[in-house]
Amino acid sequence: MNSGVMHRPGRHIAAQFAARVRGAPDRQLADRLARAVAAMARIVEEEGLDRDDLRALVAFLTDVGHASDSRRQEWVLLADTLGLTSLIEAQVTRRPAGATPNTIAGPFYRVGAPVKCDGESISIDGIGDPLVLELAVLDLDGDPVAGAAIEVWQANGAGLYENQAPDLQPDQNLRGTYRAGPDGRAIVRTVRPGGYAIPHDGPVGALLARLGLSPDRPAHLHFRISAPGFQTLTTHLFDGDDPALEADPLFAVHPALVTRFAACGDGGFEASHQFVLARAHPGREDA
Ligand code: BEZ
Ligand code: FE
Repeated sequence: MNSGVMHRPGRHIAAQFAARVRGAPDRQLADRLARAVAAMARIVEEEGLDRDDLRALVAFLTDVGHASDSRRQEWVLLADTLGLTSLIEAQVTRRPAGATPNTIAGPFYRVGAPVKCDGESISIDGIGDPLVLELAVLDLDGDPVAGAAIEVWQANGAGLYENQAPDLQPDQNLRGTYRAGPDGRAIVRTVRPGGYAIPHDGPVGALLARLGLSPDRPAHLHFRISAPGFQTLTTHLFDGDDPALEADPLFAVHPALVTRFAACGDGGFEASHQFVLARAHPGREDA
């Protein structure tokens, strides 16, 4: 062992790990883990981590595991709040310039939202500040995507999705599937959504608090827009007046996904927004 190795034990361990897995039957796993070990070793050395740091890390990861069960996925929340979920979503659904960015769907999507006529309301309980959205679905040339299916789901004014609060909201409240007209347009009638906090009563919430980060997501609506020959678009539309816009804990905010809900009439709001779909890769319309 030469003296260089003695001064850089992290590099030595990373090199040993890489050499040991060189003949691994699962090449991809071996390569990725070797890179992860090398990155970890670099951080340990650069930060001068000690035994207490390791104990704290193990305790945190143990807590994340204990907070996860079939109903709550603290690991997913950790990936979400570290930006990993949004990064991977952006990477696997990269869109050409000018197309609306794809974002995470989140856990509250339900397949089969009730079909709505143009201009019909998705608010079944009628509670909240009225909001009318004039939407257009276009292709990259600015031409309408006639007949596009526009699924929308959102939280109510108190920031709760109907499937989070089945005792407080009717089934399928604030969910609907519209069909764009020949001009690519559709009118969605709803109520103004409220922002909400991601679950923060567990170890991820404690981590956010230690970092001075808010668990609050800016108010938004979710959309899934599909049409034959186009990549399905899953995206958000954010309330441009929500102060939480600057620090979405899930990193889904993009300038193209922000709109202003302008006051109109007595207590109501309106906004218009265009979604731009990208053509599907041959044989694929999923992403
Ligand atoms: C949502 O936007 O509905 C959401 C996404 C990820 C975690 C929690 C909520
Ligand atoms: Fe949401």
